[in-house]
Amino acid sequence: MNYSKKSVKDVDVTGKRVLLRCDFNVPLDKETGAITSDKRIIASLPTIKYLLENGAKVVACSHLGKPKGEVRKRLSLAPVAKRLSECLGMPVAFAADVAGEESKKLAAGLKDGEILLLENLRFDPGEEKNSPEFAEKLASFGDIYVSDAFGTVHRAHASTVGVAAFLPAYAGLLVEQELMLMGAALDDPKRPFVAVLGGAKVSDKIGVITNLIDKADTLIVGGGMAYTFLKSMGCDVGDSLLEADKVALAGEVMKKAKDKGVRFLLPVDIAVGSHFAADCERKVVPADAIPAGWMGMDIGDKTIALFSDAVRGAGTVVWNGPMGVFEFPAFADGTKSLAKALSESGAITIVGGGDSAAAVEQLGFADKITHISTGGGASLEFLEGRELPGVACLLDR
Ligand code: 3PG
Repeated sequence: MNYSKKSVKDVDVTGKRVLLRCDFNVPLDKETGAITSDKRIIASLPTIKYLLENGAKVVACSHLGKPKGEVRKRLSLAPVAKRLSECLGMPVAFAADVAGEESKKLAAGLKDGEILLLENLRFDPGEEKNSPEFAEKLASFGDIYVSDAFGTVHRAHASTVGVAAFLPAYAGLLVEQELMLMGAALDDPKRPFVAVLGGAKVSDKIGVITNLIDKADTLIVGGGMAYTFLKSMGCDVGDSLLEADKVALAGEVMKKAKDKGVRFLLPVDIAVGSHFAADCERKVVPADAIPAGWMGMDIGDKTIALFSDAVRGAGTVVWNGPMGVFEFPAFADGTKSLAKALSESGAITIVGGGDSAAAVEQLGFADKITHISTGGGASLEFLEGRELPGVACLLDR
């Protein structure tokens, strides 16, 4: 995939109306509806400030949640407009319709250096259908289109792809940074290149594993999916998470790694629990002898040492997926130790979004990581080497 895209800095934005796609899909408190993490709003600030300081009229837009083409009040972007205004220290106009009369009126009244946020794009059924009519309506708000919604570039929707048929399309600074750092890690990594993959399911990560086998020097597999790999080696995995239909595939992947001379590391010991609960009984057992009735919930100390060692000697590390059930403090050691090893490695460290990003942030290592992706599904598809429609539609450099 070509990551070298024209950015917002390659065009004169002064006096221009800019349709800016952000990813303001922020987590909300289920009870109160309050924003529980403003990370994505903060990540969008460099591009927004750049545009405003350079005299653009910014019409920002985003989705929030999955309202499926219907207006759902609790998924309104109004709280995001408020938080964005606090972050910018200036008013952010908010249109209570997506691309209707109120939006048009507010957009027409924007002066250079002012910003308007449209209501949740997914309140309109045309957004997810990538309807050309809706895309054209959105495009009418801009002279140019800027995509800064890295978390959404894997979606081919009206606001991520459709609008590019009507407007010249540029990458925002966040998208540019994500593409540059993750692209360099995959295409021209400082070696040794170590990929650490965790998470629950082989089926979720098989695309990433397959792509990285061709690029990495060492592949480390931990988390819930490790048990399917251990099973393929004939190990007893007790009551651990197991994808019985993926055991053969796991074996093939390991054989492929061996044939290619890629070092493939699996856990050698496991912290098991008596049942899936934070306060369950815990013990550490060899990875090839998990007793019946016990389930693997984290990697053990020997594995922590083995994995951390591989990470410490690396030139580049890409990490996606936790090593265990890190939400339970008794089973957070593996994920925490790995985050620490990454932060101390001196390597170029890239953490794919989703759970591993949350883990690195919660555990306090975020400022020592080269890059934590703002994309969940998007960074996974990026690591799979798939073409991302929201990137492909931007102008090539
Ligand atoms: C995300 O949170 O990963 C992005 O905002 C995309 O959201 P979606 O999975 O609802 O398309």
